[in-house]
Amino acid sequence: MIKVDIQTETLDYHNEEAYKALRTNLKFCGNDKKVIGITSCQPSEGKSTVSLNLSKSLAESGEKVVLIECDLRKPVLIGRTSVNGGDVKGLTYFLSQQATLNEVVCGTNIENLQMIYAGPVAPNPAELLGSKYFKAAIEALRKVFDYIIIDTPPLGAVIDSAIIAQNCDGMAIVLESGKDSYHFVREVKDQLDKAGVPILGVILNKVEISKNSYYGRYGKYGKYGSYGRYGYGEKKAE
Ligand SMILES: Nc1ncnc2c1ncn2[C@@H]1O[C@H](COP(=O)(O)OP(=O)(O)O)[C@@H](O)[C@H]1O
Ligand SMILES: [Mg+2]
Repeated sequence: MIKVDIQTETLDYHNEEAYKALRTNLKFCGNDKKVIGITSCQPSEGKSTVSLNLSKSLAESGEKVVLIECDLRKPVLIGRTSVNGGDVKGLTYFLSQQATLNEVVCGTNIENLQMIYAGPVAPNPAELLGSKYFKAAIEALRKVFDYIIIDTPPLGAVIDSAIIAQNCDGMAIVLESGKDSYHFVREVKDQLDKAGVPILGVILNKVEISKNSYYGRYGKYGKYGSYGRYGYGEKKAE
């Protein structure tokens, strides 16, 4: 198995606490919520960052985790980690049946954490993700891991996330503070409802703590915000 190094620089206090809160809230969602998709309305809201840090945080708490990079259109993990020798193939290789699942799973320097890179950009990501091979991969990984964290593309931009969601037990929506309109978020929520997958919560990201006395005062929510149990709009996300 190819081994990957993930930078283990420590997060600042607020971020560290926010990820612990996120991890705890996820665990409270119940142990039938194992396959978790991370999406957002727009690009660059922080899906890949949150997916990686959440995966690390869960692994550090003793859970066996695999992170799958399913943003096949804009892969970033390969640039944010370093591969120790070997040829990393990635998910597109498996989905196009050019590699086995075992060949695309990489070990990491973090105990309990494994990951699957997106692989080379393919011309037909939605088709690959809708294939029986993707479904089969998730089913096989479910038997081995406590959590499968799936980094996806923005749902407001491409359909891939809704396709991925059909294989997830729940989705979390990353919202960059101040970026998305109410209607945009509502549309994304409706799309996930149509896919029939529960929204586990929203993750408020890139919150400027110094500008926000509420977050600052309590010192409880970090830049990543927290992972609300209510993501439905009727109740305020925690
Ligand atoms: N909480 C944060 N504070 C500051 N920068 C962040 C934060 N979250 C993400 N970023 C930065 O924003 C950019 C986009 O993040 P990324 O996770 O790649 O977004 P996405 O996967 O949603 O496109 C990256 O440069 C990342 O380092
Ligand atoms: Mg991303």
